[in-house]
Amino acid sequence: MTQSTTPRAVPTPGRTRLRRLRQSPAMRRLAAETRVHPAELVLPAFVKEGLAEPRPITSMPGVLQHTRDSLRRAAVEAAEAGLGGVMLFGVPERRDATGTGATDPDGILNLAIADVVAEVGDALVVQADLCLDEFTDHGHCGVLTASGAVDNDATLVRYAEMALAQARAGAHLVGLSGMMDGQVAVVRDALDGEGFLDTAVLAYAAKYASAFYGPFREAVESTLEGDRRTYQMDPANRREAAREVMVDIAEGADVVMVKPALAYLDVLADVAAMSTVPVAAYQVSGEYAMVEAAAANGWIDRRRAVTESVLSIRRAGADHVLTYWAVELAGWLQEEN
Ligand code: PBG
Repeated sequence: MTQSTTPRAVPTPGRTRLRRLRQSPAMRRLAAETRVHPAELVLPAFVKEGLAEPRPITSMPGVLQHTRDSLRRAAVEAAEAGLGGVMLFGVPERRDATGTGATDPDGILNLAIADVVAEVGDALVVQADLCLDEFTDHGHCGVLTASGAVDNDATLVRYAEMALAQARAGAHLVGLSGMMDGQVAVVRDALDGEGFLDTAVLAYAAKYASAFYGPFREAVESTLEGDRRTYQMDPANRREAAREVMVDIAEGADVVMVKPALAYLDVLADVAAMSTVPVAAYQVSGEYAMVEAAAANGWIDRRRAVTESVLSIRRAGADHVLTYWAVELAGWLQEEN
């Protein structure tokens, strides 16, 4: 019997070694395709009218309802951490059918915007949630028709007024989170009409009707019964997100957002590929609560889970990430550099 001379179909040992670029921290740092930088992070923050002391939010351990004073201090901290911005949410003492607190210059959100702009306006992009749900007694994002449906076009009038109130208070960017059709166009026209040409519009373009907003309802003491499925997107839909984004960009959105983040990374990747404006993603309250709860039980490594989740959102294509961990994460990033 003669021995076979056929070469073995096996590469030279060591030729393809994907592990080569993983062997040291320095090599991994060099090979990293995605980085997170504090300037891309935005801190969402809650301020409550008439509060004497900051109050913890049970379902979001580590997150507070702020007083006007403690919010100013949190904004300074955010600026010192090198964050890109803060996104402000107001919790009013009184609510009514049309959300008058949202357009009152002395309403809690408008006062807080002015406070934060006065404190750190040069160092941070001061962003405000533009939506009626915190200000309406029924908890919906718009005003209702006689039969109780959310009235798209009547709501647009309120959004235009709310945008002006926020711009007058000094907001650099208004975040339209209400998912009414035409909201970007109406707000852009209102701002331009009053000379607020430089006030930016962020459109929550692909915002889904999600269970992951649960803890936020506690944070803003939402009175909502039912859900928002007649205006927020159906979690089943991916292609529709591109349509939302196209419409919002055509109407003048400066930034578009995908929300929530972690359960919608496919949508985020699609939007990042087709958007002609910067893309933000919102790591929402329920995403925060899940990690905090698991970490509190010792089931996952908190710091690694936080870092990995935000990195994944960046990798999927987000330019900006709204996250309740923004300040803490920025501190870790500084430590690592
Ligand atoms: C609407 C708004 C919501 C969130 C941000 N803006 C609630 C909703 O749409 O039901 C949720 C944010 C979070 O869960 O962290 N004002």
